Amino acid sequence: SGAPMYMETSSAPTNIATIKYWGKADAKWNTPINDSVSVTLNQDDLKAVTTVAASSSFEKDRLWLNGEEEEGAAANKRFRACIDGVRALATAKKDADGKVLVTKEGWSRMKIHVSSYNTFPTAAGLASSAAGYAALVAALTLLFGAKEEFPGQLTTIARQGSGSACRSLDGGFVAWRKGGEKADWSDSLAEQVANEKHWPEIRAVIMVVSDAKKDTSSTAGMSTSVETSLLLKHRAETVVSKRMETIEKAFLAKDFETFGQLTMADSNQFHATCMDTYPPIFYMNDISNSIIRIIHAYNKWAGKIRAAYTFDAGPNAVLFTLDEYAVEVGALMLHYYPEFGENYVNNPDFGMKIKAFD
Ligand code: PMV
Repeated sequence: SGAPMYMETSSAPTNIATIKYWGKADAKWNTPINDSVSVTLNQDDLKAVTTVAASSSFEKDRLWLNGEEEEGAAANKRFRACIDGVRALATAKKDADGKVLVTKEGWSRMKIHVSSYNTFPTAAGLASSAAGYAALVAALTLLFGAKEEFPGQLTTIARQGSGSACRSLDGGFVAWRKGGEKADWSDSLAEQVANEKHWPEIRAVIMVVSDAKKDTSSTAGMSTSVETSLLLKHRAETVVSKRMETIEKAFLAKDFETFGQLTMADSNQFHATCMDTYPPIFYMNDISNSIIRIIHAYNKWAGKIRAAYTFDAGPNAVLFTLDEYAVEVGALMLHYYPEFGENYVNNPDFGMKIKAFD
C-alpha cells in the first residue's frame, strides 16, 4: 500500500560489569537483588546497530537478528516491553513546516520491524544482549520522538529487555540502582557515576577465548542460583553495597589499585556463586583460569595492580588496565595465547580506538 514508512537507526555499545548483577528480585519487572556497576566500552568495536521501521502497512511486529528472522518475536515479552514501553512515551511527529505527520496515538496503529546486528560474538558472555536491547530502546526513542517523564526512565525500559542493557544507554561508569521502594519498580534504573571523559587512561583488553554460545542462559542460571546458593544471599545482603560505595569512589578518584582489586574479587565471587549453585554452573574454562593466574603473577611481579580480569557468563576475559600498561598486557596475553587473533585494546572513551593487535 502507499502508507508511509518511518525509519531510524541507532547503535549502543556493550558494557562490562565490575560489580556483577546476578539474581532477580522480581522476574516480571526484571529487577535485581543487588546493585551493579559497569564500564561502557568503545562504540567502534563492540556494539549492536539497530534499525527500526514503523508503518500502518506492516501486518505484525517482526525482528531480525544478524539477518535472520526470530519467529514469534512479536509475542516475546522482553521485545514487547521495549516497544510498548518506549511507545508509551511517544510524541507527535511533525514535518519541517510543523504539519503533524503522525499523532501520538497514531504510532499505536503501526507495527514495527526491527533489524539488529552485533559486531561481536552473540551469547558468549560479552553482554551482547546489553548492547542489543540498549540499541533497540535508543532507536525506538528516535522513531517515536519519546520523552522521558523522569531521568532514567528509558533505562527502566531497556532493563525489561535485558537487565544489563540499562547500563548501556550511557558512556563511562554506570551504576544500576536496584530500586524496590516503588511498586512498579520505576526506581530500578541506571545512573551515570562518571562520564567517558573522566578517566581517559583506562583500557579494556578483550580476549575472546571462545565464541561458542554459553550453555546456561543468565536468566536460567540466576533463577537456580537464587533458589540454591547461600553465598548469593550473603553477597546480596552484605557484600555488594559496600563494594559499590568503594568502587564508585575509586573510579572517581582514578584509584586503579582499589578499582582493580574489587573488580577481580567481585568476578571471583560471582563465579564462586555459580559453583555454589546446585547443580553448579561453570562459565569459565581452563584458559579462563590460567588467565587469572597469569594476571596475579604479573601484578605480583609489578608490585601493584597493573591489570584486573573480569568474566561474565562465559569464558571470555576482559582485562582492565591503564594506557601505560596496555601494550604490555596485550603482549603478555599474546605470549601465552598467540592463537587469539581477537585481542583488542579498547578505550571506553567513545570514538577513540587503539587496536594493538590485528
Ligand atoms: O543482563 P543479563 O540478564 O544478560 O545478565 C548479565 C549478567 C552478567 O553479565 C553476568 C553480570 C552483569 O552485571 O552484566
